[in-house]
Amino acid sequence: MAPLTTIEWKNNCVRIIDQTKLPQERLYEDIATTEAMYDAIKILKVRGAPAIGIAAAFGLYLGIREVPDTTVVSVFLKILKKKAAYLAASRPTAVNLFWALERMQAVAGKETKGHTTFQLKNILLQEAIKIAREDAEICRKIGINGFKLIKDFGTILTHCNAGSLATGGMGTALAPIYIGAEKGKKFKVFADETRPLLQGSRITAFELMAAGIDVTVICDNMAAVVMAKKGVHAVITGADRIAANGDTANKVGTYGLSILARAHEIPFFIAAPFSTFDLSIKSGAQIPIEERRAEEITCGFGKTTAPKNVKTFNPAFDVTPHANITAIITERGILYPPFVKSIKKMMQ
Ligand code: MRU
Repeated sequence: MAPLTTIEWKNNCVRIIDQTKLPQERLYEDIATTEAMYDAIKILKVRGAPAIGIAAAFGLYLGIREVPDTTVVSVFLKILKKKAAYLAASRPTAVNLFWALERMQAVAGKETKGHTTFQLKNILLQEAIKIAREDAEICRKIGINGFKLIKDFGTILTHCNAGSLATGGMGTALAPIYIGAEKGKKFKVFADETRPLLQGSRITAFELMAAGIDVTVICDNMAAVVMAKKGVHAVITGADRIAANGDTANKVGTYGLSILARAHEIPFFIAAPFSTFDLSIKSGAQIPIEERRAEEITCGFGKTTAPKNVKTFNPAFDVTPHANITAIITERGILYPPFVKSIKKMMQ
């Protein structure tokens, strides 16, 4: 199965699929400026933690490519820092965004000796392309490590979209599903629609169907009955940030699913790359949670569904406590509790 390419460097621009248009339209957009990339991340044209990281890396290159080649390197590095700070403000929760911006700046910092601004710009473009390529390999490794957790003729429940449209490859949570299918396993997937922006029904269902995988969309509030009656044997979701103790921020609703999975004695798996771990924070309590516009709840997709001026609370993510997580599937292997130890060991 060839994954859908959600972001790539093409014709001197960054080509993305505008995910706000899915599933009705598969619209490609060429992003040519750092400001356009900031907006694309902010309004979720490009979304999903690893894809946001890739977008930020390319966005940073777009921000410095017009800097004159004759600019003194120290001045160039200051401009780079300013552009990185600008992009870092686009979305707060997915740590891959900050990870990618830091990686790009670290490469530029390391390469200053003997290099001109012209050369540094090219080094940064190559680094962004490398981040995207590496992500494809990482996703495949996550899939290979995780597919053993998928039972033949089993049923999996997933939330939001952690597939090829959220990454540079075949996804994180969906990678074990794709590899399982490649290996000839037969199974069913239930996809939560994922209120309020419907990444589950618009994006996960779209890409699983395109790959020929048996997918059924449910409203988020049907997960309990599906677990009780439809023989779900595993829940797999992605992650936006994982703290040192294994607490995991992911799309709002993931926390509730973890409680339901526990009540039904169903294993609850998180799939995520190394770049989603944030060891600078001890627990999920320190993860910044993005809050989004009220209209996403009250007027979703242009239809008014709540009284005018009603109060709303719209966190885009929640934190699943590590105690509710059975294992974390990474490109370096499967991590089991106690996560403080297994995460530390993996990071070394
Ligand atoms: O707001 P979104 O659509 O960017 O949220 C995405 C998720 O929560 C994903 O599950 C997560 O980023 C992992 S993507 C591999």
